[in-house]
Amino acid sequence: MQILLTGGAGYIGSIVAEQLIERSHEVTVLDNLFQGHKAAVHPQARFVQADLKDRAALHKLFSETSIEAVMHFASYTLVGESVEQPLKYIGDNVTNGINLLQEAMTHGVRKFILSSTANLFERPLKLPIDEEEQIIPGSPYGEGKYLLERILGWLDKTSGMRYACLRYFNAAGASQRYGEDHDPETHLTPLVLKVALGKLPEIRIFGSDYPTPDGTCVRDYIHVLDLAQAHILALEALERGSRTYNLGNGQGFSVREVIETARQITGKSIPEVVQDRRPGDPAILIASSERIRAELGWQPKFPRLDDIIQSAWDWHQRNPDGYSD
Ligand SMILES: NC(=O)c1ccc[n+]([C@@H]2O[C@H](COP(=O)([O-])OP(=O)(O)OC[C@H]3O[C@@H](n4cnc5c(N)ncnc54)[C@H](O)[C@@H]3O)[C@@H](O)[C@H]2O)c1
Repeated sequence: MQILLTGGAGYIGSIVAEQLIERSHEVTVLDNLFQGHKAAVHPQARFVQADLKDRAALHKLFSETSIEAVMHFASYTLVGESVEQPLKYIGDNVTNGINLLQEAMTHGVRKFILSSTANLFERPLKLPIDEEEQIIPGSPYGEGKYLLERILGWLDKTSGMRYACLRYFNAAGASQRYGEDHDPETHLTPLVLKVALGKLPEIRIFGSDYPTPDGTCVRDYIHVLDLAQAHILALEALERGSRTYNLGNGQGFSVREVIETARQITGKSIPEVVQDRRPGDPAILIASSERIRAELGWQPKFPRLDDIIQSAWDWHQRNPDGYSD
């Protein structure tokens, strides 16, 4: 299948592209490289450097290429920044998604996978969090994702669009070739490993007085290769109808467990410093992925925290300066 990946030069998109190409799909990556890296674009993918704001570039791409499905990763992704600049997240992220959907619809593309988020669940009533949980976006970032989910819902009803919304919890880990390299980096695993590499002096823990076993926040880390597998299964299932899935390991690990595991794997001391809680950080976020397991047979191959961190450490050791671009 000919698949367009927006944001395919970024962390998750580059690895999903790699996995699709390994399964003989044809991949076009559209990315403005604002966070992504040319070196993260698979050599067998066609690369178009463009911004989703650029309607003419989108029109040209869809006119020239027989796109059959779209996976939409490209987004501003910083929850904290979204609180400071809500319109960038509710405005640009949603408008860019609409631009993409308009071109897709015009060119008869009716298969769409959206990278959604656990940030839809600021106050879960039940753990683990399933798809029936009340939606209270935790930030303008989450609100923008929710608006895109709802827009897709309407396109399904009115125009036959078949979509999957994949709500990732905390993506982590790496493939052999591609890994996580953001600037600024806000995710715990790469930050901890940067401390291990001597690139950062210490790891900051935001709050150690949460109602959790060791007082630090608990999150659900999912290996990026397991996320990639979910995309492939969701793509294959689109013909059967639109679906929304929460995607996590189903197990929570605390910030301190992540740091301790990284110490064991790297053999480095990894100094830590405890700071105040950040506003809006729930104590525990763990996904129920029962729906995607039951419906699509998805099964995480790398559920263990040490396997996830080992894969990221292997990549960071091979690429201590990231993609160096
Ligand atoms: N990383 C996670 O743990 C996580 C969790 C939940 C949801 N998500 C979502 O998954 C998706 C991918 O996340 P990621 O961590 O790989 O992010 P990333 O920043 O590494 O990748 C996003 C890519 O999109 C590109 N991009 C951004 N805006 C663009 C635009 N206007 N036009 C063209 N390209 C643009 C960037 O250059 C980058 O390469 C995002 O939508 C994010 O919101 C990520």
